[in-house]
Amino acid sequence: MNLVKMVVLAVAVFVMLSSCAVGYSGSTNSTELNVWSVENQPMAEQLAAVFKEMESLKCEQTTLWKQQKALTQMQNTSQEKRAEEEVAGTHVLSYGPMKMNDDEEDLRRRGDPCYHYTILDQAWRATNATTKFKVCDRHSKWKGWYRLFYKGMSLQMPERCVPVDKCGTHSPLWLAGPHPKMKDGIVTRRVCGHWKKNCCAFKSTPIQVKKCKGNYYVYKFTQPSACYLAYCADVNTIVCGRCSRDQTCVSRDKINWRCKRNRRKFSKKIHFFASYPDQLSGKVNRIKYSKVLVNVGRAFNRRTGVFKAPVNGIYQFFFSTQTGRTGAKTDLWLVVNRYWVAVSHTHVSRLSTVGSLSMYMTFLRRGAIVYVTHNCGRSWANSASTTITFGGSLLVQMR
Ligand SMILES: *[C@@H]1O[C@H](CO)[C@@H](O)[C@H](O)[C@H]1NC(C)=O
Ligand SMILES: *[C@@H]1O[C@H](CO)[C@@H](O)[C@H](O)[C@H]1NC(C)=O
Ligand SMILES: *[C@@H]1O[C@H](CO)[C@@H](O)[C@H](O)[C@H]1NC(C)=O
Repeated sequence: MNLVKMVVLAVAVFVMLSSCAVGYSGSTNSTELNVWSVENQPMAEQLAAVFKEMESLKCEQTTLWKQQKALTQMQNTSQEKRAEEEVAGTHVLSYGPMKMNDDEEDLRRRGDPCYHYTILDQAWRATNATTKFKVCDRHSKWKGWYRLFYKGMSLQMPERCVPVDKCGTHSPLWLAGPHPKMKDGIVTRRVCGHWKKNCCAFKSTPIQVKKCKGNYYVYKFTQPSACYLAYCADVNTIVCGRCSRDQTCVSRDKINWRCKRNRRKFSKKIHFFASYPDQLSGKVNRIKYSKVLVNVGRAFNRRTGVFKAPVNGIYQFFFSTQTGRTGAKTDLWLVVNRYWVAVSHTHVSRLSTVGSLSMYMTFLRRGAIVYVTHNCGRSWANSASTTITFGGSLLVQMR
């Protein structure tokens, strides 16, 4: 770092450090700075502090700059992602303009086969059903989308070769390919008919398939290529209809199915709220908020007063105080990675007290350190007042 930069930084830090003495309301005029330097500790001591602060600033500013850049990128990608996920219909916390209103939701549903299908509840279609009379789906008029049921229970087409003479027909039709995922939207799949030891003796007309919210599928059935072919309903997949929203139906052998909990990547919950139950005066480097009221995710350490970000994401913090003592200027600073980012300033000129609350929102990387410093003045609290507080939440988790 060259000398000019150093001086500029030194002045900046100097102003910041002196804000307590001169008041924070923009009065950074040179007269007052002079007054401050005369009134307070020797210059040498102050400069030592300034240079010490600079050292951390030097690297913190690089970090902050990187964070800023990352945040812009995150916002861009998260917006895209959100748009994607909105279409896919998964549950993602969405804020502000991304939320669709009812009209838009209606419009979206209007063309969505997940909301417009015909129920096909025919027990003879079951993979375990053997009937005397055989059906040929070629004789049916197929129109639009269908959802398969077995006696009122939602199920899906088999993804495996079904023995002949099942599903109420000679050659049962099964899906030659995996069911799509939500994000795949509508896909086209080949359909096979089993006959004479050949699982795909009949390569029937391909059909379209879509996965819907609530673990079910809709199929756009068409006339099969020959007789006697019929679409099957796999009774082994009845269990899939009972999977909850945060589960997916899985199977290794396509015979035995079970509900499996989805990997929860972006659902970490972090919330904390703590108070300092006593009075504070003068400089307290790190307030040790010992009375912890909420600590979901255990990211706040009551022993040290430090919050440590457990994941990357956007966090929101708040901190409050109540100042007493006439004439006292009280400054509390929120410190992020040892960088002072937000102040809660009060200056009580008469015989009165004032409460003060400040908030701050930022992107943090995993491992970031956040605490509150009592820079100067007096703060009042007792064990029941909850006046000197510090809290925060993870709003959105990010990669
Ligand atoms: C700045 O200094 C002048 C004297 O030079 C003083 O009159 C004035 O009040 C100061 N400004 C503020 C905002 O304190
Ligand atoms: C974010 O998107 C805007 C336009 O939507 C673009 O101008 C900007 O360059 C993007 N920023 C990054 C970091 O990708
Ligand atoms: C077919 O499976 C269903 C569901 O498991 C069962 O209720 C039914 O009894 C079975 N039918 C035959 C003929 O095995």
